[in-house]
Amino acid sequence: MNSLRILVTGGTGFIGSHTCVELINEGHEVIILDNLCNSKPEVCDSIKKITGRDLTFYKGDLLNISSIESIFDEHDIDCVIHFAGLKAVGESVEKPIEYYHNNITGTLNLCEVMKKHNCKKIIFSSSATVYGDPEIIPITEDCKKGVCTNPYGWTKSMIEQILTDLHTSDEDWSVILLRYFNPLGAHESGLIGDNPNGIPNNLLPYVMKVALGQLPKLGVFGDDYDTPDGTGVRDYIHVVDLAKGHVKALDKLMSDSDVNIYNLGTGIGYSVLDVIKAFEKANDVHIPYEIKPRRAGDISTCYADSSKATAELGWKAEYDLEKMCKDSWNFAKKCY
Ligand code: NAD
Ligand code: UFG
Repeated sequence: MNSLRILVTGGTGFIGSHTCVELINEGHEVIILDNLCNSKPEVCDSIKKITGRDLTFYKGDLLNISSIESIFDEHDIDCVIHFAGLKAVGESVEKPIEYYHNNITGTLNLCEVMKKHNCKKIIFSSSATVYGDPEIIPITEDCKKGVCTNPYGWTKSMIEQILTDLHTSDEDWSVILLRYFNPLGAHESGLIGDNPNGIPNNLLPYVMKVALGQLPKLGVFGDDYDTPDGTGVRDYIHVVDLAKGHVKALDKLMSDSDVNIYNLGTGIGYSVLDVIKAFEKANDVHIPYEIKPRRAGDISTCYADSSKATAELGWKAEYDLEKMCKDSWNFAKKCY
């Protein structure tokens, strides 16, 4: 397809940075807007190093509408990929106002400026969390949205509704809602990856801090779920596969003025114990763990049917759990 000028909000973050690499590799022009509340400006240098190409970076906040305005004044943006948002589930329970304000007001500001500049094409980072405790496994896009268990999840669900309503009000809007399952891994260069601040909430960053001796042992949250080994089952997907899903979605975004929803997962469910074993085997390390009580809000099993993305976007995840574990570890050893 033709080269596009793409505004990537949250482009220095974990998934955004990997997506910028894939977009640039496909010949697109990338303009990043990020307030750096959960990422570092050096990520831009890493993206440039990996791709050998330039990009434009603006340090700015979606809550400050004039910083969005100035980008649209300076660049003729073809479409937006909207990653920017706060994403820590536990923190969202403690700080609901901050989460609703940042994620929802930020998105409304973005859409207002887009509309004013007649840019009506947006891909949004949604999440499997919108399914709540899913009605059917594997989860298809037809599965009803469920009751979210935290404010973070509700922001995803509400933003999906806001973008759908925008399309209802004006059929020129082209909206793609990508529902991600559980991203792991890192770019194989080890230059970009997931580096959360403080004690990690997510499984693999915690595992890696244990492997590095920075935390004593992993707590496994529950071994009495209705799963083969009793621990929670998730659909772990390599972040580079996820990033490529965005590139594949661009054709649809540019050619079809509609609201399209796609699950991005592998279709395979792994338990917490499977992930521990895979990480130990792939990287020849030992992960001490103990069984702890279930974590509030967790569900038993969540994995995707992504056949719609395969059929309509020509996308399929390629990397396996071993590759996710190796690439994550390669990054963590350099950067944690
Ligand atoms: P991340 O925190 O690494 O990246 C988000 C980026 O947005 C950060 O760089 C942060 O500085 C920026 N940001 C936050 N609020 C902003 C604001 N008001 N203005 C400008 N920039 C702002 O997170 P990620 O893992 O890369 O996730 C990207 C998106 O995907 C998020 O919307 C997240 O909710 C969604 N998502 C993530 C996961 C996951 O497990 N990582 C799963 C499903 C969905
Ligand atoms: N887990 C542990 N110990 C830990 C951390 C996690 O046993 O220290 C378990 C959880 O109980 C769960 C599994 O590992 O069974 C995965 O947990 P994560 O916290 O890594 O991921 P979640 O599935 O809870 O949620 C993630 C993101 C959400 C996103 C969702 C999409 O955090 O933002 O994936 O499926 F919505």
